[in-house]
Amino acid sequence: MSSGKFLRLGVLGSGKGSNMVALAEACAARQIPAQIAVVLADVPDAGILKHACDRGLTAEYLPPGKFRTKLDEDAERAYVARLQSAQVDLVVLAGFMRVLKGDFLRAFPGRIVNIHPSLLPAFPGLEAWKQALDCGVKVTGCTVHFVDAGVDSGPIIAQETVPVLADDTPATLHERIQVVERRLYPQVVGALAEGRISTRGRMVVWAGTSRG
Ligand code: GAR
Repeated sequence: MSSGKFLRLGVLGSGKGSNMVALAEACAARQIPAQIAVVLADVPDAGILKHACDRGLTAEYLPPGKFRTKLDEDAERAYVARLQSAQVDLVVLAGFMRVLKGDFLRAFPGRIVNIHPSLLPAFPGLEAWKQALDCGVKVTGCTVHFVDAGVDSGPIIAQETVPVLADDTPATLHERIQVVERRLYPQVVGALAEGRISTRGRMVVWAGTSRG
């Protein structure tokens, strides 16, 4: 994915935006050869928009259309057009709570990544940390993966574990997972920007490390 220049990121979110902030800080500190070109949210008062504006980033609310769990066709066109006009190389989902379909995926083949708060394929979908607690697992974590048309189902790029503690609540467990997310996501985006990640079918391989 790297051509020796700064990778232009289009970050999509629906929530508070802590992963976007971690990415923005890694870019600003030149820890990774990437820059955030645009931040888009499907929720008008999402914290991610405020955090982006506070950092001087271009940030916009784009209405998602009539569906609850995906973009409708007009919205999909608007998102793709905005990302293309911002000349985005990589679409980074950071708490974007809608499934991307057809034309969106075709517009950015192999160039959309997501972070999910569980060790996929366990606990896809909503409130993965609560699913982990309800299931009684002793270890959970987070996953960064390429996006396909399924729910949290694309090829896995990186995972890290987080122990589930006896006194965890949904909130404490999610916060500990998010601490790891904020470290892992910039690492993965940096590796993509440096061209250190390749795919063989569903297998994602990291060059020059013990990962993958
Ligand atoms: C993160 O924990 C992310 O893994 C999760 O939403 C949260 C967003 O937090 N994403 C999903 O559950 C996607 N299926 P943030 O807005 O603070 O980055």
